[in-house]
Amino acid sequence: HIQPVILAGGTGSRLWPLSREIYPKQLLCLTSDLSLLQNTLRRVLALPGVLAPLIVVGEEHRFITKSQVDELGIDGDYAILLEPTGRNTAPAISGAVEYVRRRGDGDPTVILVLPADHLVRDEHAFAAAVAEGAERARAGAMVTFGIHPRRPETGYGYIERGADNRVTSFKEKPAREDAERYCAEGNYYWNSGMFAFTVPTFRKEMAEHAPQILASMDLAVAAGVRDDRFFRFGRTEMARCPEDSIDYALMEKTGRAEVVAADLGWSDIGSWQALYEVLDKDANGNVSQGDVLLEDTRNSLVRAEDMMVAAVGLEDTLVVETADAVLVAPLSRSQDVKKIVARLKREG
Ligand code: GDD
Ligand code: MG
Repeated sequence: HIQPVILAGGTGSRLWPLSREIYPKQLLCLTSDLSLLQNTLRRVLALPGVLAPLIVVGEEHRFITKSQVDELGIDGDYAILLEPTGRNTAPAISGAVEYVRRRGDGDPTVILVLPADHLVRDEHAFAAAVAEGAERARAGAMVTFGIHPRRPETGYGYIERGADNRVTSFKEKPAREDAERYCAEGNYYWNSGMFAFTVPTFRKEMAEHAPQILASMDLAVAAGVRDDRFFRFGRTEMARCPEDSIDYALMEKTGRAEVVAADLGWSDIGSWQALYEVLDKDANGNVSQGDVLLEDTRNSLVRAEDMMVAAVGLEDTLVVETADAVLVAPLSRSQDVKKIVARLKREG
C-alpha cells in the first residue's frame, strides 16, 4: 500500500494579497476551479493502491481544509492531522509517520509525502514516477523526486545523481554561484519536495540524524487526540519539538537517498510570475482572471476578485485586486512581494 501524506502548512507570502495567514496558498484556486490542495488530492486518489490520505495542517486551518476535502467527496478513512504549533516539515512528516506506525498497519506501507501547493501537469508521468519510487522505497531507499533544473533557482534543494540513481549529495537552498554550477553540470536535479520511504527506513534515518524531532513527535502522537476526522498532536509535546525542514534535518545527511528523475510538468508556483508562466495566455500574452477588461495590453497578469478591473497600455505588469488590497508591480519583480508582506507584519 501507499500512504499519501499531504503537507499543507505554511503561508506562501509571495502570492499576497491573495494568500494570507488565514488563507494560505494551498487553499487558493489559482490554476482551476479547484484549489491546489484539491488538485493534489485528486491526483493522488487516481493512483492505484493508495490508502485514504493524511493531510497535515496548522490547527487554525482545520475547517477550511475539511470543507475543501469534503467538497471532493472523498470516501474512506482520511484524517487531518493538526499542528498546534508549526515546526516546519521534519516534525510534520515525523508526526504523520508516528501516526501511521501507531495505527499499526505493518512495515510494507510506503509513505508518499506530497506538498499541497504544487502544480503537476503530467499525471501519467506522476503515476509512473510514484510506482518506481515506491519500489525503491520498499527496497530501503529514502526516495526523492528530481526535476530537470530550468534556471539557477536558489530557493530549491539540489540533488546530485550518481551511479544507479543514488544521491551523492543533496544541497538545500544553495548560493547563487553553486546553483549556476549545478545547472551547468547536468547530473543535478531540483528537489521537487516529494518523498517516498517506508516507516522503518524513515525512523532509522531520523534516529540517526534528527533524534530529538523523532522522539518529540512520537510523544506528540502518543498524547494526540482524535476528534472525528481530526487528530491533534499533543500541544506541549509539539511545542518542545525542534524546528527544521526535512531537507536540512535529513535529506542533506542521509546515505540512503535515491532519486527518481521525472518530467512531470512540475511547478511550485512560488510567485505571481511562476503562476503566469504555467497558465494559458491569450493572443497578446495576457492572463486575465475574473472580471477583467484589457486594452492594448501585453504579457500581463490581471486578476480581479471583487470588482471589475480595466487596464490600458500595460506591458509585463501584474495587477491583483482583492476586497481589501490591490497589488501593482512589474511581473518580473513578483519575488519582491514578500518585502511588502514583511513590512505589513512589522508596521501592522
Ligand atoms: N503541515 C505543515 N507544517 N506543512 C508545512 C510546514 C509545517 O510546519 N512547513 C511547510 N509546509 C509545507 C508547505 O505548505 C509546502 O507544501 C511544503 O511543506 C514545503 O514547504 P516550503 O516552506 O514551501 O519549502 P520550500 O519551498 O522552502 O522548499 C522545499 O520545496 C522545494 C520545492 O518547492 C524543499 O523541499 C526544497 O528542497 C524543494 O526544492
Ligand atoms: Mg515551497
